[in-house]
Amino acid sequence: MVAQAAQDPPRVIGIIFGPPGSGKGTQAARIEKDFHLKHLSTGDILRAEVVKGTPTGREAGRIMAAGDLVPDELIVDIVRSRLPEAETGAGVLLDGFPRTLRQAQALDAMLAGEGHNVDFVLALDVPEQDLVDRLLHRAAVEGRADDTREAITERMHEYHKLTEAVLDHYRRQGVPVEIVSGLGSPDEVFERIRRVIGISSG
Ligand code: AP5
Repeated sequence: MVAQAAQDPPRVIGIIFGPPGSGKGTQAARIEKDFHLKHLSTGDILRAEVVKGTPTGREAGRIMAAGDLVPDELIVDIVRSRLPEAETGAGVLLDGFPRTLRQAQALDAMLAGEGHNVDFVLALDVPEQDLVDRLLHRAAVEGRADDTREAITERMHEYHKLTEAVLDHYRRQGVPVEIVSGLGSPDEVFERIRRVIGISSG
């Protein structure tokens, strides 16, 4: 069991983790609905900034379209400003953050300031060819700017080079890291997640 019932303090800080296309956003929406953990997606926040044409959006848009990671400082500032509000419910499920060791250290410092730590990491595991197929399918349906073949290759490269190490960072701290297969239908994946999180959605 890695999460607490919605009514039990203290608040839960979870991370949903995995490579591009592994289903983080899809599953986070379900976890938010059933387990009342506020879904905080740095990718969604950045895409909203791009649409609004803010200075942050203008800086991030080009980087995202190329499949690269935006600077740590920019992302950490965004999370620092959004976390207190997101934490007012049962807890928070971070999606797409932390993505580098520096981001993980910054998150740890933010949480340590309130005597807390990450409670669990849920890592979705999907073979790379399935990931590419999903993202190319989404490109055809939705046309997301970073779902081009070139950007997908770069996103996978960044994941292996910089992001995967975040799992070991939390393992070393003794934070439960649960690997869940992200293959099968979204319902099947969510059923696995429910078993791992360990509380019934009622
Ligand atoms: P972000 O938005 O976080 O993108 P990502 O990690 O590349 O992940 P995706 O949103 O593509 O996939 P997902 O794992 O959420 O899966 P989803 O549910 O959408 O980041 C985008 C960019 O923003 C980054 O590249 C970077 O530039 C920047 N950024 C964001 N955070 C940052 C940070 N912390 N630091 C620096 N830069 C940052 O599903 C994918 C597709 O598969 C969908 O079409 C879905 O319908 C489908 N699908 C889902 N589940 C299944 C299933 N079980 N079977 C079949 N299809 C499925």
